[in-house]
Amino acid sequence: MHSMLSNEPGGPETLIWSEQPDLSPKKGEILVSVRAAGVNFPDTLIIRDLYQVKPPRPFAPGGEVSGEVIAIGEGVTGYSLGDRVLALTGHGGFATQICVPANQAVKFPETMSYEEAAAFVFTYGTSYHALKDRASLAPGETLLVLGAAGGVGVAAIELGKAMGARVIAAVSTEEKAEFCLSVGADEALVYSREMNKADQKKFSSEIRELTGRSGVDVAYDAVGGDYAEPVLRSMAWQGRYLVVGFPAGIPKIPLNLPLLKGCDIRGVFWGASVFQDPKGHASNMAELQELFRSAKIRPRIHASLPMQRAAEALGIIERREVMGKVVLTNA
Ligand SMILES: NC(=O)c1ccc[n+]([C@@H]2O[C@H](COP(=O)([O-])OP(=O)(O)OC[C@H]3O[C@@H](n4cnc5c(N)ncnc54)[C@H](OP(=O)(O)O)[C@@H]3O)[C@@H](O)[C@H]2O)c1
Repeated sequence: MHSMLSNEPGGPETLIWSEQPDLSPKKGEILVSVRAAGVNFPDTLIIRDLYQVKPPRPFAPGGEVSGEVIAIGEGVTGYSLGDRVLALTGHGGFATQICVPANQAVKFPETMSYEEAAAFVFTYGTSYHALKDRASLAPGETLLVLGAAGGVGVAAIELGKAMGARVIAAVSTEEKAEFCLSVGADEALVYSREMNKADQKKFSSEIRELTGRSGVDVAYDAVGGDYAEPVLRSMAWQGRYLVVGFPAGIPKIPLNLPLLKGCDIRGVFWGASVFQDPKGHASNMAELQELFRSAKIRPRIHASLPMQRAAEALGIIERREVMGKVVLTNA
């Protein structure tokens, strides 16, 4: 087998395509021949030791894969050789093979391609948990999505629409705004790529104009940094501000704002929720597959590259170019 190994902390250029002995599944595991791996923002952090999880080196990044079951460990039931599965892996997915606990994999519909399956669980799982379990988003409410053209952002647009919300997408370029409208957003706002005080004020007042000055019911913040405060200043009474991610840095928030707005700031940690509430996760996964079958959600593949070009794939995310998802494939 081959893996894209991180032997030392560093950027995408430090990953090396390396040969390793074939794997065999332990008790409770299945061995998957990886056909595609989804690329996510955390992959850019984990290789630099900047992510909350720090696997022992050498390791391959890659938190989600799709592929075929090629061996089944002792005690595993419900799988046959050749089954098409997608799986959450944490890391290790940028490889040709991976062993995963059988309960972290699910079979996926025939109508879903390997690339779509590899781009499914991480983003839709996160955004569904955020909007359904954390925000209790209700039909008719206004949802503002920051970084809306990125992986979790696009999923939040589609899921917000499927849940009956009015969705406002906020992004850094006109091209991304057009993309978000094509995905289903009702409106799009373009914010500055670097936020100063004047840009923050402008962003806040643009949000308030679009929401008839009553404000945003649910804000989905997968960007953080200087984008957070203007959004918090634009919340509706009893609004829910979801803390999802910090590609632009971890913001410091004046705590008078949630008081003045009578709103909540709610943390979203999907990875932990999967372990805290496995039953809820399983039913969310089943509901997401149903939403896919009924064409309400569909992963948007920005680029599909051979696994050996993982550094290029990570570069697309780091340069803030991604619209939808980047996936890596094995021939
Ligand atoms: N809480 C959870 O459970 C959970 C689960 C999954 C992911 N996350 C987090 O959610 C965030 C988004 O993940 P993702 O996979 O959707 O990432 P992504 O596809 O790269 O999207 C992130 C978006 O953030 C914006 N951005 C602003 N400043 C940036 C910067 N300096 N570098 C890169 N992007 C920047 C970009 O949009 P604009 O250019 O339009 O601003 C970009 O499209 C990450 O922080 C990730 O760790 C959290």
